Amino acid sequence: MCGIFGYIGKRTDAGTIVIDGIKNLEYRGYDSWGIAQRQGNLIIVEKNTGKISDVDTARFHQECSAAIAHTRWATHGGVTQLNAHPHTSSDMHIAVVHNGIIENNELLRKNLQEKGHIFLSDTDTEVIPHLIEEEQKISSDFASAFQRACKKLEGRYAILAMNTKSGSLVAARKGSPLIVGVAKDQGYFIASDIPAFLNYTRTVHYLDDGEMLVTDGSSILFADLESGKEHPKRHIKITRTVEETQKGDFDHFMLKEIMEQKETIARAVNQNEEQIRTIADAIKNAQGTFLAACGTAHKACMAAEYFFSVIVQHHVNVASAGEFKLFHHFLKPESLLIVVSQSGETADVLEAMHIAKLKGAKVLAIVNNEGSTIDREADFTLSINAGPERAVASTKALTGQMAVLMLIAYTLAGKLHEGKTLLLETGSMINDMLNPRYLERIKALAQTLKEEEDCYIIGKSWNFPMALESAIKIQEVSYIHAEGFAAAELKHGPIALIEENTPCLVLVGNDEVTVDIINNAIELKARGAKIIGVGPARHAVFDEWLKVPDVGPAQAICNIIPIQILAYYLAVERGKNPDLPRNLAKSVTVK
Ligand code: F6R
Repeated sequence: MCGIFGYIGKRTDAGTIVIDGIKNLEYRGYDSWGIAQRQGNLIIVEKNTGKISDVDTARFHQECSAAIAHTRWATHGGVTQLNAHPHTSSDMHIAVVHNGIIENNELLRKNLQEKGHIFLSDTDTEVIPHLIEEEQKISSDFASAFQRACKKLEGRYAILAMNTKSGSLVAARKGSPLIVGVAKDQGYFIASDIPAFLNYTRTVHYLDDGEMLVTDGSSILFADLESGKEHPKRHIKITRTVEETQKGDFDHFMLKEIMEQKETIARAVNQNEEQIRTIADAIKNAQGTFLAACGTAHKACMAAEYFFSVIVQHHVNVASAGEFKLFHHFLKPESLLIVVSQSGETADVLEAMHIAKLKGAKVLAIVNNEGSTIDREADFTLSINAGPERAVASTKALTGQMAVLMLIAYTLAGKLHEGKTLLLETGSMINDMLNPRYLERIKALAQTLKEEEDCYIIGKSWNFPMALESAIKIQEVSYIHAEGFAAAELKHGPIALIEENTPCLVLVGNDEVTVDIINNAIELKARGAKIIGVGPARHAVFDEWLKVPDVGPAQAICNIIPIQILAYYLAVERGKNPDLPRNLAKSVTVK
């Protein structure tokens, strides 16, 4: 959460570069923004509440060759102008932007205040420039003062600092991502994520945990944060294109990404067969296979528990990554942890990974964002190949994650090709389903539901996690109160919530549990519910029916798509921006 971006180099439009670039990181947080530009011996800071996308880039076109910018998702301190980053030292020669949480900030602040430092904000970040300033009193070299200051910080961070006296940018990483873009003829771009600088370069260095860098715009040095010892670092060429990260003709990224599911299932299934077999063997030989993830990715793992049960009768343990550490007693060196993450940066998922590694267990990561921390730290990685997902609400990543997990289950059952064929057919049927008439039909349904305050979703088997996921999608973009349940749980409490015309979405397949869930829908209808069925067949109990193809064990992948579309149109019909839901950020890099 929070995006940071800085530039230093030969160009003299650093202000516009960083404002333009940070707009591409808005998905990381969008409650306030700020910029610091180096103008000779001065640092000029401008910051405010509101979205960075609403800021006019041209305003920052001043002669300037170094600048840093920030887009915030508030952790410490409310959403105010003073709490927005950058934060500065007392002498205004140091400016800092930060992503993460400084856990010992209260103690550091108290010590600094005793030394006469005056704080203007309620943030944890503000201690950093003051701490560097204090360290510079011991020895004035900016980079070493920065390094000593970082060693006093506890918590997770990516920090980027600018100094007028040395004329350099320094950065460090512990837990939160930082990537350096190198454009030989232009300079260095330092960002939380690649889209910030993709217009300028595809040559990157990924900063590792416990690593720092110093650059004056013409060269760059990497060093160990603990010892300060310098080391060489190789750059990597990435293949991402600018077009992939743009909205194109769509009104919102969310709709673009929903529509991309016409092809992303096939892309997810396009895996190296030998690698998939190696992973299936690792699962077969593991003493305990665990799956951990957060939010939507966690729902993919829950669906996978059913895939492993039904397709291969192999037991796996699924946990929300934030709860995983409580199960560490079950981990052995022979265990396998599968983590699933679109961004590859989610703090709780990283923690789960670290716990497993401490126990000597192996980690398989299923990620979308190649080069992310989770990708780089895992023992094996499978990419879902979905391309950049920009909308905060995850859509194409979920179906890609389920496709990869299902392919692994089929491979473990010795039926890789059967699984691949099923998933490719599913992808092709989704391609047919996602036509303009289908969207219009769901848009019309959204118009009838847009004034509702509550909505419930039920599912059974792999449709149960999809009911939970449906609730997340509807809540986060439309702000309608939505809750998902295992259909059989209804009679144990939730049915008390049903009143005349309460909308209830019923996710159905064509399998041995269909009869049960239809009976549950009939029970809901008997209490006045309006039943919106999602499934391959129309059942008499449905008041409305959203048809999806009949794809057997891959039904969860199809059934969630009309709900994603419904959530999208509910948001639009209610006048909300589905790409930037309130209070959220795409990459949850704090615990
Ligand atoms: C909801 C959503 C989140 C993410 C969760 C995990 O639409 O996007 O629930 O799924 O924050 O993120 P990743 O997959 O990046 O680890």
